Amino acid sequence: MRRLLSLTALVVAAISGCRGGDSELPPVHLIHNMDTQEKVKAYRKDIAGIFSDGRGMRAPPEGTVAQGQLDEDDLYYRGVDAKGEPSKVLPAQLKNPDGTVPEKVVRRGENRYAIYCAPCHGLAGDGKGPVASRGLEIPPANLHDEFRKTMAVGKLYAAIAAGVNNGNMASYASQIPVADRWAIVAYICELQQVSCEDRKVIVIDPNEVSVKKGEQLYKARACVTCHSIDGTKLVGPTFKGVWGKTEPTSAGDVVVDAAYVKESILNPTAKVTTGYPPAMPPQALPDAEIDSIILYLQTLK
Ligand code: HEC
Ligand code: HEC
Repeated sequence: MRRLLSLTALVVAAISGCRGGDSELPPVHLIHNMDTQEKVKAYRKDIAGIFSDGRGMRAPPEGTVAQGQLDEDDLYYRGVDAKGEPSKVLPAQLKNPDGTVPEKVVRRGENRYAIYCAPCHGLAGDGKGPVASRGLEIPPANLHDEFRKTMAVGKLYAAIAAGVNNGNMASYASQIPVADRWAIVAYICELQQVSCEDRKVIVIDPNEVSVKKGEQLYKARACVTCHSIDGTKLVGPTFKGVWGKTEPTSAGDVVVDAAYVKESILNPTAKVTTGYPPAMPPQALPDAEIDSIILYLQTLK
């Protein structure tokens, strides 16, 4: 009886496909279930002989579009209007119902611009990014020149989506999704201080003094290329926490206050911050601009 039991156990083990052991031989595989069957596998020959050209994988019938890839909105996906011309307006997908672009979108664009565009075009958009300064055969465009300031937003979009002049600037389509491309366009408008739609120079009231204006000037007057706001040391000292700080300079210790900032802008070599080259260009900015920059610096804790 006992012998019969162990025999049955052995048979059961064999049939149920016990594949253990150290054998070099292929495992005994009595019941194949659906492990091996004649079927078409991707990238393999059509062994079943179903298709006359012998290919297992089939090309989709002409004109087929995969789900979610119709992209039929020309303005959104290609930046062109109904006539196929570069669009002069932003796509509705980007905007609030009242036609304005949400601040969140512009800030996203700023972030993406800093990653993908600033290496060549510079954080200030002047075409003097670090890559350009190390020698590019074709200089990156200065986004503040008249031609780029009046360029339709559809063309700004196309520069990202398709590149510029047959690859003088490569396309960033594979790195930057559509929504981010438009966010970058919205940010470039802000950087250029020109409205995105019907491209008019955004008139900043010359007499206005505000933090917002100071922040815009920080970029527009290119302070951004030499002074970071996050603590990074660039050509000049960072603006982070600069307000009220005591700095050693060529003329002794100085507290960073309104008078010192004003002097630094108008006459940078009067007191050169210790540890930095006298590399700051003097800029004869109007008082309202200097006062706005001063207000802005105070916010950079
Ligand atoms: C590797 C360097 C490089 C990067 C990165 C780069 N560009 Fe450019 N870009 C160029 C060069 C070079 C040109 C000038 C091409 C020419 O004049 O033929 C240019 C030109 C342009 C122009 C002008 C188009 C025109 O028709 O005159 C725009 C707008 C532009 N770039 C936007 C961008 C944006 C937005 C990004 C980021 C998504 C970006 N670029 C990233 C190198 C770069
Ligand atoms: C080309 C680079 C460059 C640009 C552009 C630039 N700066 Fe400077 N800045 C420097 C350098 C280098 C120093 C330190 C040497 C000195 O004091 O001259 C400096 C110093 C300063 C200081 C003194 C800071 C301290 O901690 O002592 C202030 C304030 C300042 N810059 C404001 C500005 C403003 C505002 C702008 C834009 C309108 C600007 N800078 C544009 C390079 C630059």
